Amino acid sequence: MKIERIVFATGNAGKVKEIQAILADLGMEVISMKQAGIAVEIEENGSTYEENALIKSRAVAACLKEAGQQENTVVMSDDSGLEIDYLHQEPGIYSARYLGEDTSYRIKNANLLSRLEGVEEALRTARFVCAIAAVLPDGRELTSRGIIEGRIGYEEKGSNGFGYDPIFYVPEFGCTTAELSEEQKNQVSHRGNALQAMKRLLLGIMEEQEH
Ligand code: IMP
Repeated sequence: MKIERIVFATGNAGKVKEIQAILADLGMEVISMKQAGIAVEIEENGSTYEENALIKSRAVAACLKEAGQQENTVVMSDDSGLEIDYLHQEPGIYSARYLGEDTSYRIKNANLLSRLEGVEEALRTARFVCAIAAVLPDGRELTSRGIIEGRIGYEEKGSNGFGYDPIFYVPEFGCTTAELSEEQKNQVSHRGNALQAMKRLLLGIMEEQEH
């Protein structure tokens, strides 16, 4: 089985750029599903990050197969979310949909801060979680997971990143992920860690093929 191309099942150009950077030394072409000519609405109705990522990868792999384009191609996708321990791991897999998909993060973040009002620092622990799922040309499936631990701050800080970054404080850095540069964040983020783990799995598969 040869792997020459990775199609990343996302509409987010930033994610494609990030995965291109991390997987650059594998010498494969990394393109978005849009660049591969695939447009498909996928309902993420799984109950874990891994399930949701697999649902996306399988759907795009099926479209590529139908178009006769699956040869030597790995389809990959991710699913991620924020888990706040004090809120019983909410918003979790519902992070994008929390308070409604179209609600601004100003409002979502303000809401989470108010739900933690008066909660002491030691109980404000949280983490970003990311799962990556890959469907290989022979139909095999791989998943990996990455995590970054932190705490929910007391106010929004920083303007980099997106989503819940302004309220996610990382003690090692003494700032929120919205105050890190893109490069710094990629080195330590849940998505960066999950991608590195997936890279190791893919390298293992490729080595296996050579012997
Ligand atoms: P999805 O995996 O693209 O569906 O995104 C899940 C949701 O989790 C995002 O819409 C954000 O609300 C949240 N999220 C995931 N990763 C991050 C991050 O790195 N920073 C801020 N929010 C994130």
